[in-house]
Amino acid sequence: MADLTAIRSEYARAGLSERDALPSPIAHLDKWLHEAIDAQHPEPTAMTLATASLAGEPSARVVLLKGLDDRGLVFFTSYDSDKGRALEANPRASACLFWNMLERQVRVTGSVVKVAREESEAYFATRPRESQIGAWASKQSGVIAGRAELEARVTEVSARFGEGPVPCPETWGGYRLVPDVVELWQGRPSRLHDRLRYTRKGDARWLVERLSP
Ligand SMILES: Cc1cc2nc3c(=O)[nH]c(=O)nc-3n(C[C@H](O)[C@H](O)[C@H](O)COP(=O)(O)O)c2cc1C
Repeated sequence: MADLTAIRSEYARAGLSERDALPSPIAHLDKWLHEAIDAQHPEPTAMTLATASLAGEPSARVVLLKGLDDRGLVFFTSYDSDKGRALEANPRASACLFWNMLERQVRVTGSVVKVAREESEAYFATRPRESQIGAWASKQSGVIAGRAELEARVTEVSARFGEGPVPCPETWGGYRLVPDVVELWQGRPSRLHDRLRYTRKGDARWLVERLSP
């Protein structure tokens, strides 16, 4: 086994002061996202999304951030998946983005709501046809006998739609994570990192507090 204790990084690229922090954490996340994109970070929109069942059983997986505005963070998935069922029972989630090249992490916790049907359909229509067919062919999170079963489903769905448009399945769509708390983390030397936590105090009002690293 590798000696993981020897893997160590020092973070020294930048700092994060209260003065630099934008009044809205969503605006700050947007700024950091653009800096990650400009830095050609691989998968800059990938975020780990944690959900919990009603019984409190946690589950985390990566999804792609596809929309960001004052209302929150949007991602798309199958409503019929494990995460969809967890969110149906307990519509709370936490997302975490990490850009190692920029030594930055953003954590977002809040409530999750489905986006408007038109929003899901509009985004689905922009996806490559193969992904649209995949959404019909895959019952996300269900057990299958083997890869052949999935491929047979793809062939069957492709034949069903022929050359025509592939509509958005009823069970597929977006969720919006509406933040209550957002934490910006900037790595600093000697593990003395900068952490600013925003807590929502009203529609567009946020309390900003510095946390000990
Ligand atoms: C980089 C990356 C991006 C992903 N993007 C999505 C996504 O946007 N939506 C999605 O449903 N699954 C996405 N996945 C797959 C999920 O991590 C996960 O396997 C799937 O959603 C099933 O999760 P669940 O069984 O907990 O519902 C992505 C995985 C990776 C590694």
